Amino acid sequence: MGVQISPSILSADYTDLAGEVARIAPAADWVHVDVMDNHFVPNITIGPPVVERLAAVSELPLDCHLMITDADRWAPGYAEAGARSVTFHVEASGAPVRLARELRGLGVRAGMALKPATPVEPYADLLGELDLLLLMTVEPGFGGQKFLDLVLPKVRRARELVKDRELDLWLQVDGGVAADTIERCADAGADVFVAGSAVYGADDLDAAITGLRAQAQAATDQSWWAAGH
Ligand code: DX5
Ligand code: ZN
Repeated sequence: MGVQISPSILSADYTDLAGEVARIAPAADWVHVDVMDNHFVPNITIGPPVVERLAAVSELPLDCHLMITDADRWAPGYAEAGARSVTFHVEASGAPVRLARELRGLGVRAGMALKPATPVEPYADLLGELDLLLLMTVEPGFGGQKFLDLVLPKVRRARELVKDRELDLWLQVDGGVAADTIERCADAGADVFVAGSAVYGADDLDAAITGLRAQAQAATDQSWWAAGH
């Protein structure tokens, strides 16, 4: 697929979500929707009714990132609400394989997220069940946090697993992704980039997205994992 940019509406104006999504529609690939429940993370955002309305009005597909407990129970509802990609946290799922299969059965891309301290290796054999692996580059819960470089070796190891097993799996990074960090992420092996404050905090959203994409593409072209592709 190449480089994809998924701006997070966590940093947008929640009183005008339709308008805020329209602002990124010309340049972005996805809309990243952060769902928080004050149990998995110490913050609350939105739930299925808002996702359903947003899916109805958005030109871009919704990339739902569920930072909620009891993912097995709640995640399918986001597919039914109209998301095109649904990502649950493995730390919040009792049966990630069953849940990933259920999501795929509902016709959406199945994503699984790992917090910074959660290693990827225990899940190596599950990766074939997934369409997306999200590696959090901050502790989930808030926008505008500082990027955690310590996650980059895990991104690299995840990319090695994807390459070795010849998987069709997107590797997403989320948290602190901006002009000063996106190249390191791409070089390590990420190909889907979530950016909240780096996009919605910019004066020109189009230019911010286009700039991030160009940086990520250039770093990918020179990377160890995708050189020449
Ligand atoms: C944080 C969310 C992120 C957040 C990223 O828990 O999952 O998607 O919006 O925001 P920035 O890009 O500002 O770090
Ligand atoms: Zn997110």
